[in-house]
Amino acid sequence: MAVKVQNLSVAIIGGGVMGVGLGRRLIDSKIVSSQRLKVIVRRPQQAAKLRQQWQLNATVDRHKALKNSAAIFVCVKPQDCNQVLEQIKKDQALKHNPLLISIVTGASIASIQRSLGERAHIVRAVPNTPGLIGAGITVCSFSNKVTAKEKQLTQRLFAAFGDYLELEEDHMDTITGLSASGPAFVYVMIEALADGGVMRGLPRKVALRLAAQTLLGGARTLLETGRHPADLKDDVTTPAGCTIGALLHLEDGRIRSVLARGVEEAARIASSLAPEEKPGRKEVRP
Ligand SMILES: NC(=O)c1ccc[n+]([C@@H]2O[C@H](COP(=O)([O-])OP(=O)(O)OC[C@H]3O[C@@H](n4cnc5c(N)ncnc54)[C@H](OP(=O)(O)O)[C@@H]3O)[C@@H](O)[C@H]2O)c1
Repeated sequence: MAVKVQNLSVAIIGGGVMGVGLGRRLIDSKIVSSQRLKVIVRRPQQAAKLRQQWQLNATVDRHKALKNSAAIFVCVKPQDCNQVLEQIKKDQALKHNPLLISIVTGASIASIQRSLGERAHIVRAVPNTPGLIGAGITVCSFSNKVTAKEKQLTQRLFAAFGDYLELEEDHMDTITGLSASGPAFVYVMIEALADGGVMRGLPRKVALRLAAQTLLGGARTLLETGRHPADLKDDVTTPAGCTIGALLHLEDGRIRSVLARGVEEAARIASSLAPEEKPGRKEVRP
């Protein structure tokens, strides 16, 4: 049976890129009603800004907002995570057993349990920024207290961000390197492809549109047909044609290993971002 979410209260701690984006998506997708969604921030000016600019029910009154919330999202940077967990503990906000959903990069379920106790119902999630327009993918893993119904609730909530997967927590750093950092790699690819068109005389705007739509179309074709990328590539490569000529050029530039190593490097760095191990770190994004 589908989990009814509209009647549930949801709190989001952190009104930054992801917290605001998630809040808006949950409301715009009619998954959570706007009256039942609260965004908790730490400055009154920030609350006023989110109310005015994003029509979000933003507040600095953490205690009141957390009380009775069925799901609490933690959307702060790794260096702020421990303080937020301490506040949750101090407020006794888990007394009624809400689902605690953390999107904090590097914050393991075990580290959150160390702050909040073994009995907490914890979800560790890795979303990505295309989720802000509903075209993302979120991967979740769960602490052993999370029930099947709570897993359904998690899936329903992240449907606001797009596609959804559940995987073992061991993979989370790799997922951060691939799908959370990945949009940045894609933007660089789009810009580079467009540069090629601009070099040949296309207006920048046209070149960007062609490049972006080509990436989007390629990705959709792969997902919708289920065909292997090598097979799809062969459809485009006429013997002795321009595409195979260009592909050999790209292979000379080691395009595959550069991209694969990029993911590996992002995953390696993600694995060193555990909040409790780098308390003084200033800026940490996937
Ligand atoms: N952006 C991505 O692509 C992406 C993807 C997947 C996961 N993530 C992860 O998601 C988390 C949030 O990322 P983001 O891009 O949204 O960061 P962000 O834009 O920097 O937002 C973080 C927000 O948390 C607020 N905050 C910090 N401590 C707080 C507290 N005690 N109470 C209430 N609010 C507090 C900050 O408020 P102030 O303005 O007062 O400092 C800030 O507005 C990070 O752990 C990030 O690694 C990000």
